[in-house]
Amino acid sequence: MSDTDLIGALRVLEREALAAVSGATDEAALETVRVTYLGRTEGSISKVLRGLGALPTGARPAVGQEANRVKIAVSEALKVRGLALAPQTRGSAEDLTLPSRGPWRGGLHPITQAVDEIWHIFRDMGFARARGPEADTEWYNFEALNTPLDHPAADEQDTLYLVDSVLLRSHTSPVQVRTMEAYEPPIRIIAPGWVYRRDTYDATHTPAFMQIEGLVVDEGVSFVDFKATLAEFARRYWGPDTRVRFRPSFFPFTEPSAEVDVKRVITKPDGTRVETDWLEVMGAGMVDPAVLENVGYDSERYTGWAFGMGPARIAMLKHGVDDLRTFFENDMRFLAQFSS
Ligand code: DAH
Repeated sequence: MSDTDLIGALRVLEREALAAVSGATDEAALETVRVTYLGRTEGSISKVLRGLGALPTGARPAVGQEANRVKIAVSEALKVRGLALAPQTRGSAEDLTLPSRGPWRGGLHPITQAVDEIWHIFRDMGFARARGPEADTEWYNFEALNTPLDHPAADEQDTLYLVDSVLLRSHTSPVQVRTMEAYEPPIRIIAPGWVYRRDTYDATHTPAFMQIEGLVVDEGVSFVDFKATLAEFARRYWGPDTRVRFRPSFFPFTEPSAEVDVKRVITKPDGTRVETDWLEVMGAGMVDPAVLENVGYDSERYTGWAFGMGPARIAMLKHGVDDLRTFFENDMRFLAQFSS
């Protein structure tokens, strides 16, 4: 048979099968219809599907697609008719005294909650919210941030390139550059957003994750201002007894650079108060004058500080979650604990 004949034959089979399905008046009759058309060995539709291999290669896709469609249509009809013919026992088992299940209540994802809490603390201190594109150029992601393209971070091993010099941003720091290009100082912004890296999905890495960038630029902004603001943030977020420590570090876009650690005081179930270990929560530093010059700011007149932190990590610390993947698996038993 040619492929058009076969397709025609399939449609005839489909019509017959559907008529037989609606004609079946009990479950036994319906089972006979199922075996006749879809039975594994003798079913007439199954036979066509099995015969596909013998067709010339060119004819296979069209016939295969049609045979599959017919198979699904007939299976669905069998299922629906099966439900209608099934003995109606469940209705009588209804127990009207059972309490209702209550409405299903959604909630914000724990990472979204962390982002909101963090952003709101900075908002109360006078910061505005900024955003930038997730697909950006090498210029914004690296070069404008004083990071040469031969820096390891710019390597294709670490960064997801789209085409040529366009990539998925590997951090939220490009929003610093875009904001400074668009506005004159004073600048005081918080920029939460998704970032992407070529990382293997494991307990502490995901190829897509959230970051929150902060940037302040003005005349007379100093390291003291930076330390005081971050210490105030830490006390508001982790509690009034939280201590903050700045460790020297290196980022191409800040000079000097620091890693910021916090030590919290937590109250144990028996009421005793204990200090936690030092926990690293962000990278930060004074904006490198080269970055200010790249956006056309006068680096003699303006100074600034910046930070970048990972809210997922912060949410992990806060809720005692030890595997990052739990946040992304959408298991309702986990997520429901965070809805209020
Ligand atoms: N962009 C850095 C990263 O992804 C984090 C960072 C460090 C941001 C220091 C900053 C900063 O703004 O000043 O690892």
